[in-house]
Amino acid sequence: MKYMTTAEIREKYLKFFEEKGCKRMPSSSLIPDDPSLLLTSAGMVQFKPYFLHVKELDPAYVGTTTVQKCVRTNDIDIIGTTGRHLSFFEMLGNFSFGKYFKKEMCAWALEFSTQVLELPAERLYFTVFEDDDETIEIWKNLGVPEDHISKLGEDDNFWRAGPTGPCGPCSEIYFDQGPEVGCGKPDCKPGCDCDRFLEYWNCVFTQFDGQEDGTLAPLKTKNIDTGMGLERIAAIMQGVTNNYDTDVLRGLVAVGERLFGKTYKTDDATDLSLRIVADHSRSVTFMIADGILPSNEGRGYVLRRLLRRAVMHGHKLGIEGPFLSHYIEQIVNEMGHVYPEIVENRELVERVVASEEERFGATLRQGQAFLDEALSKLEGDTLSGKEAFTLHDTYGFPVEVTEEICAERGIKVDTAEFEACMEE
Ligand code: GLY
Repeated sequence: MKYMTTAEIREKYLKFFEEKGCKRMPSSSLIPDDPSLLLTSAGMVQFKPYFLHVKELDPAYVGTTTVQKCVRTNDIDIIGTTGRHLSFFEMLGNFSFGKYFKKEMCAWALEFSTQVLELPAERLYFTVFEDDDETIEIWKNLGVPEDHISKLGEDDNFWRAGPTGPCGPCSEIYFDQGPEVGCGKPDCKPGCDCDRFLEYWNCVFTQFDGQEDGTLAPLKTKNIDTGMGLERIAAIMQGVTNNYDTDVLRGLVAVGERLFGKTYKTDDATDLSLRIVADHSRSVTFMIADGILPSNEGRGYVLRRLLRRAVMHGHKLGIEGPFLSHYIEQIVNEMGHVYPEIVENRELVERVVASEEERFGATLRQGQAFLDEALSKLEGDTLSGKEAFTLHDTYGFPVEVTEEICAERGIKVDTAEFEACMEE
């Protein structure tokens, strides 16, 4: 397989769908124009009004194609511990609002995979939603062998951005990373929890508008919403099994290596911290560039939590003063040509980050000393909510960060008492 940089894959994808008649559109802001979502978490978010035909696409095009900056925050605490989870990622997408559907989409996804990326067809596997025999036939007619197609249920093969709105069954493409990456179980197949079969492309057949009461109302047209995680496909194209080993993220890990005088892949705790700072620095840069400021609620709180978690791991790596500007510089240099807003707003990003680093950095050491003492005196396995509140209120520790440090030592936090203190 030939090596491709992240930048090459991004451009080849957008060009491919432009040539199919899609309009190339810019990524939308991380602040969605949608009160049901805290942050933009998928390429389809900016296109919800088009799926609902509240807005119409210029009829000269068959659809749209984008690379969308996304932040997903449901699993911040496991970021860094795996090679797959990222808080910030780029999603390649193409979207149809009635002009093309399953047949075209499946053919194009296969064409792009095997002819542009030149992925070996024998390493591709396909899943469809449990009742979707039509898509099985489409894949078969495109030459996919029957034993490379399987059915999965709602958890894997029905996609929605939130509880309501445009959604539908989906068909996913997996790349077989080889038995040596997997669990070795005889029944290992796409959908298995292990890393062997890596899902890299999701083709959603957006046909429904999810209602408040849980029912699915048919949409006026049958649509396409696809998502391909850029970091995932970059890992495949670069022959690595961990997102942090791909060019862009490895470049950020290298910033940490230089800054902290460490070598990646020599010690687990160091690697974890290097990965966390590499990931969080991207979220933080893009969130601030889109106008999010650290605060104690909503998306501002997500930003503060990411920022403070990054600072804490920088301190773990041995740095005392501000350091994130070095990451911002690398991110702007690497990604500014795709997302001009991070170039335009670089000064704002640097100012906000430096001010948070200063504020939190000043109390971090004292907060850690307070927490160490509280834990040394602890009887039982739960830190009181009052102490978690002091850490929050006096030392600026987001409660989730306190929970994470405690969890490393097998200790829980009384979050109910913490909430009560916050109320008071
Ligand atoms: N919107 C499809 C996906 O994010 O997978």
